[in-house]
Amino acid sequence: MMKGLIRAGGRGTRLRPLTYTRAKQLIPIANKPVLFYALETLAEAGVREIGMIVGDTRTEIEEYVGDGSRWGVEVTYIPQDAPLGLAHAVLTAEPFLGESPFVVFLGDNLIRGGIREFIGCYERERPNALILLTPVHNPEEFGVAELDGEHVVRLVEKPAHPPSNLALVGVYIFDSSIFGAARTIRPSARGELEITDAIGALIDSGLSVRMQRVQGWWKDTGKLEDLLEANHMLLEDLPRVIEGEVESSEIIGRVRIEAGARVRESTIRGPAIIGANTLIENAYVGPFTSIGPNAAIVGSEVEYSIVLEGSSLTDLGSRLENSLIGREVAVYRSRQRPRSINLMIGDHGRVGLL
Ligand code: G1P
Repeated sequence: MMKGLIRAGGRGTRLRPLTYTRAKQLIPIANKPVLFYALETLAEAGVREIGMIVGDTRTEIEEYVGDGSRWGVEVTYIPQDAPLGLAHAVLTAEPFLGESPFVVFLGDNLIRGGIREFIGCYERERPNALILLTPVHNPEEFGVAELDGEHVVRLVEKPAHPPSNLALVGVYIFDSSIFGAARTIRPSARGELEITDAIGALIDSGLSVRMQRVQGWWKDTGKLEDLLEANHMLLEDLPRVIEGEVESSEIIGRVRIEAGARVRESTIRGPAIIGANTLIENAYVGPFTSIGPNAAIVGSEVEYSIVLEGSSLTDLGSRLENSLIGREVAVYRSRQRPRSINLMIGDHGRVGLL
């Protein structure tokens, strides 16, 4: 039986300040934590036993995921002492994985269309490792594959001079030969044991490494732009569901308004999602926007953004776009004189003024 291994550790430095207070894998996209999509994808592909690699944020990950029964899977938490790389995580999980083939899934990655076909390909061909590749415009930010026809000849992690534009997607299938390979490699420039190098070591010792190309889309949600793009892509699949109350408003296209939400004197142009108990009043919510629960958008316009639970946008006066607003944040137009901008922003915050 194929086991699963999800990486839900890491520091999430590129998503500060949100990751000072919450694991990056728990940031909601289309109002659902990224990590839940990973669990759904594995469950849907028939993977039942899942090891969850956790670090400093173990407690909150456990709070959200529990024993996995909600997805019909069994989750075993595997603490990794420090985020020393994916190959280190795999070695840490060796006692859990044993001799079984396993699929590794990075907890901040999203893949549309599932991984059934990927697992099917592994079962048919039984290579020592199966990797997933997709063309990207910024290969220097990923692991990159060099191919000879359909053959993987070399892999490099975050190369300054990429040999191709084919990035390694954060989903891999291995048999137990990966453990030996991971033990032969040295930490990379960023001080991590890279899975890319471990797979390279498999190739060097003559073992079989095959590749498949991603059929649908894939996103690593490690930074703001990618989170917003993932939000865009997930909202594309949103059905129209209106459970909340709508009064004197125009709701266009695929919009989900959750129970207890109130929309008054406003326009919502889908795809967009409005969380439970959120108030939208005298406002415009544009396409590709996710507003979390218990939030308020009043006298304001917002588009192509994510606003998390408990936050409010009040009388902004200009449209908010391309933004990620954390929890319990208040953004408002101040009425004081002299007129000035008043900020209280967490460390590593970003503000783009008009
Ligand atoms: C990791 C892998 C990299 C892969 C990427 C996919 O990078 O090391 O090879 O392309 O995930 O998301 P990291 O997220 O650790 O920078």
